[in-house]
Amino acid sequence: MLKEQMDAAIAHLEAEVRERFPGGRLLKHTFSVAETCRETARRLGRSDTAPEAAYLAGLAHDLFKDRGHDKLRELVRSESVPIDRHSWLLGGGLLHAPAAAHYLRSRLGVRDAGLLAAVYYHTTGRAGAGVLERILFCADYLDASRPKRSAEPGLESLRNKLKSSLDEVYGEVIRRKLVYTLSKGRPLHPSGVAAWNELCALKP
Ligand SMILES: [Fe+2]
Ligand SMILES: [Fe+2]
Repeated sequence: MLKEQMDAAIAHLEAEVRERFPGGRLLKHTFSVAETCRETARRLGRSDTAPEAAYLAGLAHDLFKDRGHDKLRELVRSESVPIDRHSWLLGGGLLHAPAAAHYLRSRLGVRDAGLLAAVYYHTTGRAGAGVLERILFCADYLDASRPKRSAEPGLESLRNKLKSSLDEVYGEVIRRKLVYTLSKGRPLHPSGVAAWNELCALKP
């Protein structure tokens, strides 16, 4: 993405997030995740993962989080939002991520495949996830402003490892999300299962 386009998209999203979530939990969560993404990308210092792209992904990821299930389904239908079959069938918390990726593409003209994938897969993860996808996936899960997760053991240690051992933290977050979903008796999204299987196959 050109710098001017990136700056304009960031300014747009910062204003949009403030307008959509005035003073609420999602406002705090979104800016906190976006900052963690930017800082993690900066520390990693990879030429293919720009800190500003990571910040933008963080700003966009939960733009539709407060929409109810029925409204999101209606949005997907009316705007022909590209969505995989399982996210559509399972619904629940899975619809807001494809909706946010669609918003980036359709409203802000974002074409960066890594950035769009980071937003699209931020709830499930996937096999073959790129660095930006891993950063957002972990930053979102580990965010300290999430009230329900504050009592979960080992989170602070995972946060500290994020900038030095991204792949290790990503594997642990994938595992915890799958275990949690199973513990609730809910179905697993195949993308998350494939991410886990890939990580197992890569282990020495
Ligand atoms: Fe989300
Ligand atoms: Fe989030």
